[in-house]
Amino acid sequence: MTKRTILAIETSCDETAFSVLQDGKTLSHKVHSQADLHAEFGGVFPTLAKREHDKNFTPLLALTLKNAFAISTLPDSNNHNLDEEKIKKVESFLSREDDLATDLIAYFQSISDQDFLKIKTGLDAIAVTYGPGLEPALWVGISGAKALATIFDLPLFPINHMEGHIASVLASTTKNDKGTIQSIMFPTIALLISGGHTELVLINSWHEYSVIGHTVDDAVGEAYDKVARLLGLPYPGGPQISKLAEKWRSEYGDRKNEFTLPRPMIHSRDYNFSFSGLKTAVLYTVRDKIKLQNDEPLNRDQMESLSAEFEQAVVDTLLHKTKQAIEKYVAETLIIGGGVISNQYIRENFTRLANELGINLLIPEKDLATDNATMIGLVANLQMVDGKAGLLPDSDEFVNLMANGNLSL
Ligand code: KG4
Ligand code: ZN
Repeated sequence: MTKRTILAIETSCDETAFSVLQDGKTLSHKVHSQADLHAEFGGVFPTLAKREHDKNFTPLLALTLKNAFAISTLPDSNNHNLDEEKIKKVESFLSREDDLATDLIAYFQSISDQDFLKIKTGLDAIAVTYGPGLEPALWVGISGAKALATIFDLPLFPINHMEGHIASVLASTTKNDKGTIQSIMFPTIALLISGGHTELVLINSWHEYSVIGHTVDDAVGEAYDKVARLLGLPYPGGPQISKLAEKWRSEYGDRKNEFTLPRPMIHSRDYNFSFSGLKTAVLYTVRDKIKLQNDEPLNRDQMESLSAEFEQAVVDTLLHKTKQAIEKYVAETLIIGGGVISNQYIRENFTRLANELGINLLIPEKDLATDNATMIGLVANLQMVDGKAGLLPDSDEFVNLMANGNLSL
């Protein structure tokens, strides 16, 4: 049986990530987050993200390949020489990327012929996120993927980032027997909750998606990030707010919260969400409180209670809408994907809901909830299993593949 070994690349936001998967199992998984650099801007700054992807692309790729194929990092006297024609193509694909062509060519010329051959014969395909996301950031991955597909003469699979979040539940980076394609029973409802998206998706079979509900304004992760900013906490705000909320729950679990926030659109008869009103309600609450205490900012206790009420409002809304969708479509499986499902309280609440409804719940491991390349490789693997072919280097579709910041499912 032929193996499907895929090198996957993800650069849609502020994580540079590579993975190598073989028949859907992770051989190597590397993520480099730029979150600390963006923290001072209170969000992801696109041109900085692009520059950082350019800078980190080659070292992280080298580490990923070393891990997957036992590539030696020692300089070798029998270095590999890329042919002139390939070098020209690589330079042309990477003409808009700072130093990436130079770095990438230098790397492949620094490894031995034998190691180069190990990678070339070891890989069957390249997969890359082409949207949705920040276009300057997406372009780094796409151009880099075209360069790699050209160097190794491999087909290229352009992958939708949101489909990646759905497929993330199939993987394990620590053990090789987590989810299987078979453990998903259709119809499936997927709830995607990230920094850029909040969507309820009906899945009748792999690759057949219909978005039945979405946020009409801010995404959940975005709301966490904005509320954190209001409270003077750094980006990304999700982990910060959830830590404060957790503290309040562990101390006052059963007590009524001193703050009350709305549950926007909870009674609307559709599957849509709205989180911008919730964020504004937090803004007014903070303002009123500060006024009331003669310009004194919120103290730690108050920040904890407000975070807990905010998180509860998010949980109540997500649970309610998801439950409605499960019941309406008589779903057999619930998948939750996206950075926000790293949140322990949200995980616990959905586990409870799934038990109550007797539905099969699939949630990614925590390091696969936030952006990574394993989930991108998993989608390519599913496509290969279905017999789909990738784009061949030099074909028009390959050359013309572009970033699509607003790509939908
Ligand atoms: O999926 P992701 O890594 O990137 C996007 O595609 O957007 O999601 C990032 C989002 C950020 O908004 C971040 O604040 C949120 O996920 N997040 C969390 C938690 N960890 C990350 N939100 C709530 N609780 C968390 N523990
Ligand atoms: Zn994401």
